[in-house]
Amino acid sequence: MYEKMNIQWFPGHMTKAQRMIEENLKMVDAVCELLDARIPRASRNPDIDRLAGDKPRLIILNRIDLADPAMTARWKKYYEARGFSVLETDAKSGKGVNGFAPAVRRLLADKLKEYESKGQVGRTLRVMILGIPNVGKSTFINKVAGRKAAIAGDRPGVTRGKQWINIDSGLDLLDTPGILWPRFDSQEVGEMLAITNAIKADVLDKETLGANFMLRLREMYPKAIEERYKFAPDPDMNGFELLEQAAKKRGFLVSKGEYDMERMANTLLGEYHEGKLGRLSLEAPDD
Ligand code: G4P
Repeated sequence: MYEKMNIQWFPGHMTKAQRMIEENLKMVDAVCELLDARIPRASRNPDIDRLAGDKPRLIILNRIDLADPAMTARWKKYYEARGFSVLETDAKSGKGVNGFAPAVRRLLADKLKEYESKGQVGRTLRVMILGIPNVGKSTFINKVAGRKAAIAGDRPGVTRGKQWINIDSGLDLLDTPGILWPRFDSQEVGEMLAITNAIKADVLDKETLGANFMLRLREMYPKAIEERYKFAPDPDMNGFELLEQAAKKRGFLVSKGEYDMERMANTLLGEYHEGKLGRLSLEAPDD
């Protein structure tokens, strides 16, 4: 099984990741990009379209168990309209994972025909998985591989050390996912990545993160605040006031009239992570 990696993205790491992708791209027929279904824009690597070149592309919206189903459906349409194949999965439970092999075959139907017309019947299709840290790549690969995780072994023309997992007759998956850097382009994106655990929340001030998350919830899912923290969010309050209101309701009192805001921020983020606030997406497509 794969270990989770926590990587700080320095320019050196980015160059190395880029080189790894370029090397592996030569060997694959399709590129499959994992996104967090709750933030299908913020969780995309900003350079993926350039890196993937003209390879056929599949987008996997993962963590659908935590995302708003209606929003996930909108994102699916959004990416399909832009030429991507899209699959929805919950890699943790395995939901949707069975659709992977058929989706790849559909995506590569023309390629298969081309191979056949050249007499290369039975030629194996190869796919690589890419995504930012923590998006679920290893979990997904392990689920897809299932009991077939027995590795196919090196083959001619494959860089030494590369392993392929045979997931279906004629379909192989590169066993190591490509880890790409996340976006660094705005505080808002950084916050969404921290809220969904794509980056460590402690790079940002927890209280501010919690306050801004409250604002986002009030805007998108006010009912979730009401149901979980037992107050209707006042439209005139700022994020800190909303967070304090929740701390009051939870009884996180430190001294007379003073509430433990950091504890409340941690509680809020932890409960979101566990899905206790419901299935909530943080981004809508502009459709
Ligand atoms: P990576 O290779 O892309 O870095 O990600 P990895 O598979 O290590 O997954 C990161 C975390 O996300 C793991 O949780 C994993 O169980 C969880 N995960 C992956 N896919 C899904 C999904 O579809 N739904 C949900 N709910 N979780 C998913 P962890 O860090 O081991 O613990 P925890 O987050 O479960 O507490």
